[in-house]
Amino acid sequence: MTTSTQAYGEPWYWDNRYSNEPGPFDWYQKYLTLAPITNLYVPPAQPVLVVGCGNSAFSEGMVVDGGYTDVVNIDISSVVIKAMKTKHQDCPKLKFMKMDARDMSDFESGSFGAVIDKGTLDSILCGNNSRQNATKMLEEIWRVLKDKGVYVLVTYGAPLYRLRLLRESCSWTIKLHVIEKLASEEKSDNPVWELTKPVPLNDDGSSVEEALGQNPDVHYIYICTKEVSANSNTNA
Ligand SMILES: C[S@@+](CC[C@H](N)C(=O)[O-])C[C@H]1O[C@@H](n2cnc3c(N)ncnc32)[C@H](O)[C@@H]1O
Repeated sequence: MTTSTQAYGEPWYWDNRYSNEPGPFDWYQKYLTLAPITNLYVPPAQPVLVVGCGNSAFSEGMVVDGGYTDVVNIDISSVVIKAMKTKHQDCPKLKFMKMDARDMSDFESGSFGAVIDKGTLDSILCGNNSRQNATKMLEEIWRVLKDKGVYVLVTYGAPLYRLRLLRESCSWTIKLHVIEKLASEEKSDNPVWELTKPVPLNDDGSSVEEALGQNPDVHYIYICTKEVSANSNTNA
């Protein structure tokens, strides 16, 4: 049976999927291929929140290989959270909580230095009321970040589809990186763009096509910084 991608926004879909496919499975990219980006932008001394962690090994990689000491993981699927809690019960640096990223009221405002999202905004955008749900999630991410905190969004969504949504939800300062879609073992020696070098980003994102060509085979990594002080100056 094929499932419409519309179901990606529904908890029952993920509960069902994780009951049948215990994993581990990483969407898009693994920790080691993205480590140069987390090393650049995710402060190691502050708590990190991973939204929609699934059964990915990304957070484990952050702790084991990246030296992060406080990685909080949430997911809307109770099935996957139960499994991940059991799997990582001996690792206090990794915490797992069942929570909807659209309502993170269990977390105080300004709790995290970084929020990582690999495929979760994409899933929400597949579901019903996608725009409304995505905005709720982005506003909650903004709220739980500290000032100068970063939201690292790893997505298949090109700037044409993601920039407006990000800009209309909150006043992020946005940088863009890209990474080839190929699995890590197949990484070419000549990537379309160097991972750690931001891609030039103008208002409508057309500069990205100029730099990378049309439809490059990449995942996009948006580095969205919460600059409260910059905003309050602008609004003053
Ligand atoms: C495409 S998977 C990505 C999983 C993981 N981040 C990875 O990179 O492999 C999307 C995940 O988001 C979770 N999810 C979907 N909607 C959510 C929501 N509103 N709040 C929290 N998690 C959600 C799903 O249960 C699923 O685990």
